[in-house]
Amino acid sequence: MTNMAGCFHWVSSVFLVRLSFFFVVLANPILPAVQSTSLIARTRRIPLQPKVFIIAQYGDERDIWRRTSYFDVFAQEISFPGSSPIFSKAFCTSSAHVCLVTVGEGEIQAAISIANLLSSNIFDLEKTYWLVGGCAGINPKLGTVGSVTFAKYAVQVALQYEFDARDMPDEFEAGYVPFGSYNPDDYPQTVYGTEVYELNDNLRQLAIAFAKRARLNDTSSAQALRANYGSSVDFAAGATPPAVIACDTATSDNWFTGNHLAEAFERATRLFTNGHGVYCTTQQEDNATLEALLRGALSHVVDFSRIVILRTGSDFDRPYPGSSTADNLFYAWDGYDPAIENIAIAGGEVVKGILEGWTSTFEKGVLATNYVGNIFGSLGGSPDFGEESVPDGVNDGRRGRRRRKVSRP
Ligand SMILES: *[C@@H]1O[C@H](CO)[C@@H](O)[C@H](O)[C@H]1NC(C)=O
Ligand SMILES: *[C@@H]1O[C@H](CO)[C@@H](O)[C@H](O)[C@H]1NC(C)=O
Repeated sequence: MTNMAGCFHWVSSVFLVRLSFFFVVLANPILPAVQSTSLIARTRRIPLQPKVFIIAQYGDERDIWRRTSYFDVFAQEISFPGSSPIFSKAFCTSSAHVCLVTVGEGEIQAAISIANLLSSNIFDLEKTYWLVGGCAGINPKLGTVGSVTFAKYAVQVALQYEFDARDMPDEFEAGYVPFGSYNPDDYPQTVYGTEVYELNDNLRQLAIAFAKRARLNDTSSAQALRANYGSSVDFAAGATPPAVIACDTATSDNWFTGNHLAEAFERATRLFTNGHGVYCTTQQEDNATLEALLRGALSHVVDFSRIVILRTGSDFDRPYPGSSTADNLFYAWDGYDPAIENIAIAGGEVVKGILEGWTSTFEKGVLATNYVGNIFGSLGGSPDFGEESVPDGVNDGRRGRRRRKVSRP
């Protein structure tokens, strides 16, 4: 086990050396370059260079990786300043080729934990692949509990105005309205920048192929819950056995449940991604994690084309016919165990695939042929979502009454 206090101390001493180096250079503009290089070289340890960094959100999602026999990610503990106060340790294999961080639940915890991890200087993350491994609410139109999903789009669906349904205009189907708009179906006229992220689809396809090698876990109580969805034609997918599927994820701190909100956020996902995104899971962290990784990419410490989001279905986002929304939220949790199991069962195959293909494929990177990045195009390229990207004739009649340019504060 790495001595954590030592690690902390090491970071602060590097920081102090860098700070003093900064002042020396400032005060002494003609200082020979060779002297500054050796100053750094003498004081700087080689950072750990993970090939895969697993991101868990809380204890169960972390601990399930203890069952993986292919590698022991708990071989060393790593502390970093600004980690979650309740999940303060990151972990790595003895080679540090695979590491794991637990960010904490919800958007704020996830963003801050990842941002501080990136700025810790403990890791060289330039070539690191990121595997978000978590459970999620699942849409029975597309999948079921225990299924393993891989997202291309992550959409922050609740970043909207909100009415209580009792106060909303009669013609609205749900109480959410995109910022700057007057109608739930109008494209947001104001965007904050975290509404939509698009990930490397070629990498996603490789991850899906790896995950399909796994024999997914299932339990009889999950099967019993699932079977209830078979009575609805719309929810046929909810009654099928667990599988590996490609579909998109919605982020919201607001843990929503029920047909009305689930349908509202299905529509928001379609709307925000100009019809490309297919909402199938709901969770509370991914856009926050992605925003922190995007900031890291802008600082050249992260490669944004090396991110995989794996979310397994732990519970349904809406009830089966004949059941109540409250029962769905509070009691229909029979899919939780296989969902947790399958994070490591399917995710372990993804990690293994990346490690085994490192030299041939992954070290140099998987070229993205789709747009990769956020709604602003901060990393370059043009998003295939966002108001400007809507082709003529698409979303007819669903666009804002006001056609202001999207404001970018
Ligand atoms: C969150 O990220 C997903 C996946 O990258 C993206 O599709 C989605 O639009 C994002 N949502 C928000 C509100 O940022
Ligand atoms: C699935 O996981 C549970 C523990 O959550 C375990 O008891 C069960 O044996 C596993 N089933 C299969 C088919 O692997």
